Amino acid sequence: MSAAKTDPATLVIFGGSGDLSKRKLVPALYQLHVENQLPTGTAIVGYARTGESDETYRAEMKAAVAEFARKKPVNEEVWKEFASRLFFVRGDLGVPKHLADLKARLEAIEKERKLPGNRLFYLAIPPSVIGTVVKNLGDAGFVYRVDGGPWSRVIVEKPFGKDLATARALNEELSTVFRERQIFRIDHYLGKETTQNLLVFRLGNGLFEPLWNRRYVDHVQITVAESIGVEGRGRFYEEAGIFRDIVQNHMLQLLCLVAMEPPVAFEPNAVRDEKVKVLRSMKPQTPEEILRDTVRGQYAPGAVDGKPVVGYREEKDVHPMSLRETYAAWKVQVENWRWAGVPFYLRAGKRMPRRVTEIAIQFRTPPIAFFRRAGVALQEPNTLVLRIQPDEGIALRFGAKQPGSTMKIDPVKMDFQYSQFFGTSQPEAYERLLMDAIHGDSTLFARRDEVEAAWEHVTSVLDTWRENPPLDHPNYEAGTWGPEAAVALLARDGRRWRRP
Ligand code: BG6
Repeated sequence: MSAAKTDPATLVIFGGSGDLSKRKLVPALYQLHVENQLPTGTAIVGYARTGESDETYRAEMKAAVAEFARKKPVNEEVWKEFASRLFFVRGDLGVPKHLADLKARLEAIEKERKLPGNRLFYLAIPPSVIGTVVKNLGDAGFVYRVDGGPWSRVIVEKPFGKDLATARALNEELSTVFRERQIFRIDHYLGKETTQNLLVFRLGNGLFEPLWNRRYVDHVQITVAESIGVEGRGRFYEEAGIFRDIVQNHMLQLLCLVAMEPPVAFEPNAVRDEKVKVLRSMKPQTPEEILRDTVRGQYAPGAVDGKPVVGYREEKDVHPMSLRETYAAWKVQVENWRWAGVPFYLRAGKRMPRRVTEIAIQFRTPPIAFFRRAGVALQEPNTLVLRIQPDEGIALRFGAKQPGSTMKIDPVKMDFQYSQFFGTSQPEAYERLLMDAIHGDSTLFARRDEVEAAWEHVTSVLDTWRENPPLDHPNYEAGTWGPEAAVALLARDGRRWRRP
């Protein structure tokens, strides 16, 4: 859909001066402006507790864009045009009078810019205040629920609640003000080009889909490793831990895309129906199974990229005896006809040796009697690796005969790199997702039942963990691939983690 033909809207960012706005949202909007994708007239209003005026907000955002824009340097002329779309309103999220001021300002901006009154509210604020803000938006008459006039939509940032009960409560609160199709629960992993490529790869090629099942696949490994630590977000991490921060959303979304049945169309409900089915097919685990099939870890001091780094407990705002996890591994079973008996191993960690997000499909080994008789050692299994980031690409590993008079098999690799073929600059996930929300396309956003189904599994793990505090934290050195227990988790099944 061409942006210019879409009706323009006013985008109101709650948390407009926060970290997310500076690092991701405003730089993404700037890039969309550069590429002429924002509908003509689109206005962006930052709403925050601190700040002075439109002018100071523009200056603050200019510095942020200069630092975080995808394409640098920022062009002065283009910036000026973009800045004329930017506005600021100061206010407290819970004070109805402040929201009334915001409403008056929105109406004035819309009148001046001849905007039709479409509004996209971006809630880049802590989950604990979302309910109040949504209620106040409803009470103050910000939201249109009926079709035919201007539209209202809301984007809700993660974390979406902190367990099943809070996620349900949040959904309830949202549904009293917005209809489901007006709600866009964002998970930026779904906006990544290479995540979407996963679907193209699976469903757009006749070659792989027939192999995508229990008959050919031995197991699947999904890895989200980061070399960074908690980066000044100690307070958040003490509350959340990596299981809520990355596994509940990003990793389960990747699992859904790998495991789901082909949807009938690339449309919001068709895709999301299939994802929900995966989550519902995940085998519920008893506390004993959870303790057996999960591993928690926390980083101790160590070195990353040759530089010494502190342990999690020494990070700012972290309790010196904290038991919070910065690493998690989880063996998951999807019990449906396609995947019964094929384990999915998930792992996520901070302070790993390097940043890598990948999905590795390991295929079954062929019958090897013929080669064994020829004296060949056990063959390595074929592996298909979908690299989400960095070095986005796809690699297929298979065996080839070593040249020579003896029969020796060597693993070789066919490697496709996104950057070699399509160039290096790919759109940021937020660019894509913001445009989708403006167009009203929720295919790449999570539906209510999907979020709740994910929380159901995650909450069982968190409850069991809480009742059984870890005795060994910290248990991996920063700059290593995680605790020993994670190695044992796979070794028990006769398997091992890939070294990405
Ligand atoms: C965020 C998490 O959702 O995703 C962060 O809160 C994490 O802890 C980040 O670092 C990773 O995103 P990306 O796009 O860098 O893989």
